[in-house]
Amino acid sequence: MDHFEYRDRTLFCEDVPVPELAEKYGTPLYVYSQATLLHHLKEVQTAFAEAKPVICYSVKANGNLSLCRLMGQHGSGFDVTSQGEFQRALKAGPAGAKIVFAGVGKTDAEIEFALKNGVFLFDVESEQELLAIGAVAQKLGVKANVALRVNPDLPPKTHVKTDTSVKGVKFGLDIETIIDVAKSVVGHPGLAVVGLHMHLGSPILKAEPYRQGCEKGVALIRAFRAQGHNIQYLNMGGGFGINYRKDEAKPASAFAEVILPAVRETGCQLILEPGRFIVGNAAILLSRVVFTKSTGGKHYVIQDAAMNDLIRPTLYGSLHRIWPVHPAAGVPVRPDVNGDPDDPNPFRAMPNCFNQDVVGPVCESGDYLAKDRPLPALTRGDLLAVFSAGAYGMTMASNYNSRVRAAEVLVTGRTHRLIRRRETFADLVACEEDCLT
Ligand code: LLP
Repeated sequence: MDHFEYRDRTLFCEDVPVPELAEKYGTPLYVYSQATLLHHLKEVQTAFAEAKPVICYSVKANGNLSLCRLMGQHGSGFDVTSQGEFQRALKAGPAGAKIVFAGVGKTDAEIEFALKNGVFLFDVESEQELLAIGAVAQKLGVKANVALRVNPDLPPKTHVKTDTSVKGVKFGLDIETIIDVAKSVVGHPGLAVVGLHMHLGSPILKAEPYRQGCEKGVALIRAFRAQGHNIQYLNMGGGFGINYRKDEAKPASAFAEVILPAVRETGCQLILEPGRFIVGNAAILLSRVVFTKSTGGKHYVIQDAAMNDLIRPTLYGSLHRIWPVHPAAGVPVRPDVNGDPDDPNPFRAMPNCFNQDVVGPVCESGDYLAKDRPLPALTRGDLLAVFSAGAYGMTMASNYNSRVRAAEVLVTGRTHRLIRRRETFADLVACEEDCLT
C-alpha cells in the first residue's frame, strides 16, 4: 500500500503532482509520502497491539531527522547501530524515547555514550562485547541492561548479503553456546541480562522463519530464567518485507500471528525493530532523463540518478519498479501488479514497451537502476519514478564521482517541504578544505 498514484496520466504523491516537485526542488529527488509512512507504522502497532510492543524504528533504513521525528511523535522508539544513529535518535526523538543499540562492533566510547544517554537496551553480539559493556558500566557505576542476541541458525531466507540468522554469519551469539555465555555473567555487577534478541535478516517475505525463531527463543528464555536472569524482553528485530516487484509482502498481522504466541508464553514485553516495512514503500526516487542511446544492440536510458543515489540494484541485484511520471497514451500506468501476481516478471508483455537499461552518469558499468526492463520510449527531460526507494536508499547513498547527494522532500496531503537540502560543492569538500596546504 502506498500513496503514489496516477491521475490523468500524471504521477501524484498524495495530492501533489510529482512534476511540481521536480520543478521546485530539482532531480534526483527522494519524495516521501507521510501518509504512507504513518500507515505502515500504524499497521505494525495495530497488528501487535495485544502485546503492547515497544516499536523501535530502525534508523539504518532511513535516518532523516524529520522522518525520525515523525516516528517518535507517533509512538516509536529507535533501533540504532552506531553512535551516529544514536545521536540522530536523540536529536529527532522525544525525550525518553526508547533506544536499542545493536551491532557487532560497538567501541568502548560508543558504549559509554549510550550508557550516558539513556540507552534502553544493548543487543549484545559477542562474549567480548558483553564483558566490555559490563566493564564500562562498572566504571560509570551503573548496571547496563542487555539483551543477548542469538543467531538462531535457521535456513537461508533472503539475499545472502542480508541474511543474518544462518550459521556462520558475524551476527549474534551461537545458539550452541549462548546459554554458557549467559551463565558466565549471572550476578555480574555491571550487567543485567534482561532480554533475548534476534534479527533474522532483511527483507523476509514469509512468516515461517519468525515462527521457527520464536520457538528457539522461548526455550532460551526459559534457560536464562532458570539461571536466575530476570528476562523481561523478547526482541524479534526487523526484517518484514515489502512489495518491490509485485504484491508479494505479508501484512504485519501475518508476522504477529506467529510471534504473539511466544510473547504470551514467555510473558515478555515484545520489542520490534522494523525499518523497511515502515519507510520502504513510502518514497520514490525521482529522476530526469538526460539522454537515451542505443549501442551494441542495447537501449539505454541515461538519467540523473545513479548508483551513488540508490545502490541496491548494483549491490544486491534488487528490483525497483521504474515508470515514467507521465506515461504516454497507449502505455499502461504503474505496472506493479501486472495481472498474474505469481509471474516472476510482472513487466512482461507491456504494450508499447521494449527492453531498456536504466543507468546513471557514474563511471562504472555496474551503475544501473534496472537492466533489460520493458519501458516505453523515453526522451530527454522525461521524469522517471523509481518506486519503493524509501529504505536503504538515501542511507546508503554516497558522494562517489563527487556527486552531491540528492535532496529529500516530504509530502503531506497537498503540501510539501524540504527535509534535506541538496548538497553543494562546499559540502563535498568541507572536510578537506581546511587541510589543504
Ligand atoms: N534490526 C537489526 C539488528 C538490523 O540489523 C536491521 C537491518 C533491522 C533491525 C531492520 O531491518 P528491516 O526491518 O529494515 O528489514 N541494505 C539492505 C538491508 C540491510 C539490513 C540491515 N539490518 C537492503 O538494502 O536491502
